[in-house]
Amino acid sequence: MGVQGATAPAPFILSFTMDKNSPMKKILLIDDEVSLVRTLELYFRGKGYQVFAAFDAREGLQLWRKHEPDIVLLDVQLPGMDGTQALQNAKDEDLSGDVIMITAFQDMEATLAAIQHGAADYLYKPLDLDSLDVLLEKFLARRKEREKIESLSHVISESSKPNQIIGKSQATLEVLKDIARVAASPVTVLIGGETGTGKELVARTIHQQWAPNEPFVAINCAAIVGNLLESELFGHERGAFTGAVQKKAGKLEIAGNGTVFLDEVGELPLEIQAKFLRVLQEKQFQHVGGLKDIPFKARLLVATNRDLEGMSRAGAFREDLYFRLKVFEIHIRPLRERTEDIIPLAENFISRMNRELNRNVTRIPMEYIKALVAYDWPGNVRELENMLRRAMILSKGEVLEIDQCWLEPRQAALPEVSEPEDSQLKSLSEMEKEHILKILRHTGGNYGRACTILGITRPTLRKKMNDYGLKEYLENEQG
Ligand SMILES: Nc1ncnc2c1ncn2[C@@H]1O[C@H](COP(=O)(O)OP(=O)(O)OP(=O)(O)O)[C@@H](O)[C@H]1O
Ligand SMILES: [Mg+2]
Repeated sequence: MGVQGATAPAPFILSFTMDKNSPMKKILLIDDEVSLVRTLELYFRGKGYQVFAAFDAREGLQLWRKHEPDIVLLDVQLPGMDGTQALQNAKDEDLSGDVIMITAFQDMEATLAAIQHGAADYLYKPLDLDSLDVLLEKFLARRKEREKIESLSHVISESSKPNQIIGKSQATLEVLKDIARVAASPVTVLIGGETGTGKELVARTIHQQWAPNEPFVAINCAAIVGNLLESELFGHERGAFTGAVQKKAGKLEIAGNGTVFLDEVGELPLEIQAKFLRVLQEKQFQHVGGLKDIPFKARLLVATNRDLEGMSRAGAFREDLYFRLKVFEIHIRPLRERTEDIIPLAENFISRMNRELNRNVTRIPMEYIKALVAYDWPGNVRELENMLRRAMILSKGEVLEIDQCWLEPRQAALPEVSEPEDSQLKSLSEMEKEHILKILRHTGGNYGRACTILGITRPTLRKKMNDYGLKEYLENEQG
């Protein structure tokens, strides 16, 4: 329906469509065409709006400041200051409201300029009320959504502490207390906990308090194979073995008076365990292929995600070494058992990633918070960090954007299929297939979470599922 000039008020004037519970929405009309303004005034009153009207920009801006409208209808052609200039002034003053420019075809250039200056949209004269309604509904819904997000979201406090242990759960406070207790004396500390719980972070924190100016030397026992591991630890003489073309210092030496951090100590081969035990007893060692005694002065911190006690009972880890290592134990609980840490951790990561990724995320929607707390985090803090990094990459505004599948309620756990004979040796791809299947079952078929845990992208997961025929497999299981 078109409205131009003094069209008689339409018969739907009294149809109140506004939600009675929400406060009256305010609309400001700025147009020099008096009859049009009057018509619209009646129309919007009829729809339950509070209406303000002005016939020129100056008066319009006054009303704009005073009443803080939700919507402003602004004519491009106005006597004196034109609509684009008025918009510019309003934006400079940071006045509220979504602005719809009212324009004629010949004013297209000015209208586009207005859009660039922050107008939300434009409509042509003669005004089509249906299009206007559609626009208003869109803006008001958006506004409502914004308000809802503001009331239902968690405002992130500015807190970004790199390399600091974050958390306010009792379990984390105990860990901090333990660290304070052991930091001052050079006792060996065995740090236990699932993958990604922060074992290395704890080790670095102890070192930081113990000898901040000395080296912190980390060795991952799982990452280096037997012979090489031995020479990494103890160093070697020239010609000690094939490939040892030069004498090389070991990590135990390089650490000096600092800290040696043996990560994944459960993977230390038994023969190196024996050698290492001797180092701890005698406080000295020799290069591989060497005779000279080298003093071992560094502090030892070790970490494991395995049950060393059980391993030592089963003969997979030397019991005497185990007793030497567990002088003081710090056990870090899995994240799912200390959910109070999740929000402080998330805030910290988001603050840091705001800088790293040039983002400005300041809010986490409530539903997301609930999902974060409900999830069981098999990859612990590292998984939380990875998941948030993906979300931050998606997030362009102030509100953390949710990878929707992350919020989907998890499907009922898929039934177990009979395990294949474990005795047979498997190829890497078989292992990969089984692992992906395991993770998919764990996430209840949620691909987003599976990608986060596996550390691969969705296209990669999709490709692997295709290659291994996992999709059909899962469908069969479910069906
Ligand atoms: N309490 C915490 N506060 C802040 N960051 C943490 C915390 N716990 C873990 N992190 C971060 O999570 C990531 C994983 O931690 P870390 O590497 O120390 O785990 P880990 O237990 O050694 O894991 P893995 O067993 O897989 O080696 C790191 O980026 C670390 O900084
Ligand atoms: Mg580690």
